[in-house]
Amino acid sequence: MESHLASSSDTYAAAWTPLVYDGLIWSMFLPLGGVGRMRDRALARMGPVGGRRILELGCGTGALTRRLTRQGARVTAVDGSRSMLGRARARAPAATFVHTRLEILPDLGAFDQVLCAFVLHELPTVVRRRVLDAASRMLRPDGRLIILDHAAPSDGAFARAWRGFLSRLEPPSVAECLADGYDRDLQACGYDLVSRESLARGCAQLVMARPGSGATALGSPQR
Ligand SMILES: C[S@@+](CC[C@H](N)C(=O)[O-])C[C@H]1O[C@@H](n2cnc3c(N)ncnc32)[C@H](O)[C@@H]1O
Repeated sequence: MESHLASSSDTYAAAWTPLVYDGLIWSMFLPLGGVGRMRDRALARMGPVGGRRILELGCGTGALTRRLTRQGARVTAVDGSRSMLGRARARAPAATFVHTRLEILPDLGAFDQVLCAFVLHELPTVVRRRVLDAASRMLRPDGRLIILDHAAPSDGAFARAWRGFLSRLEPPSVAECLADGYDRDLQACGYDLVSRESLARGCAQLVMARPGSGATALGSPQR
C-alpha cells in the first residue's frame, strides 16, 4: 500500500522533471488547441478570482498558479515534488506553497475554490476520495471544487487512439477518470455536480461541484 501511495508524487522527484513535464503537456495539447488556451478557458469558467482564496492541489510547475495570482487570487498551492514546487515558486512568487503528499493533506484553512488540475487521475481511488473529502471540509459552504483533467472523445478512431495513448502514459487510475469523469467519487464524497464541460476537442474536461447532500444523481460527461 505505502509504495503505491508514494508512486505518483515520486514520479516527479527528479530535478529535470519540471522541464520535461512542461514540454510534454505543451506538445500533447498542441494539436488540440494548445495547453495555454485550455488553461485560460478553464480559469475563465472559474469566474472573477480577485481576492478569492484558492487551494490548488498538485500545482506542478505553477502554470495555473501564476495565472491565478496575476488575477489577484490568494492561492495556497500544494505539491509533493520539491522540484515541481521550485519551478512553481519561481513562476508565482505571490502564492503560498505547501510541500506535502496529498495522502496526508493537512487542514490548510477555508477556501472559496479548490482546484485539482491533472492530478486526481494519478491517485488510487482510496487516496482520491480522501483528498476529495479533505477538500470538501476546507471549502466554504458556497465554495466550489474545480477539476480539470483528462477525457476522451466519445467514439471514433481518434478516441480509441487517445485512450490507448493515455493508458500508456498515465497510471492505471486514469481509466476511472475516463470512465465516468469522477462521478462516483463525487457522489461518494457528498458533492453535487454543478457543471461539466468538454475542453481541448474532447480530450479534457472541466468539472465543477459543490459540497452538498450527495443525494443528487450526477450526470455523465457531456461531450
Ligand atoms: C500532471 S502534474 C499536474 C500539474 C499541474 N496541476 C498542471 O495542471 O499542469 C501532477 C502534479 O501532482 C503532483 N502529485 C501527484 N501525486 C501526488 C501526491 N500523491 N501528493 C502530492 N502531490 C502529488 C505531482 O508532483 C505533480 O506536480
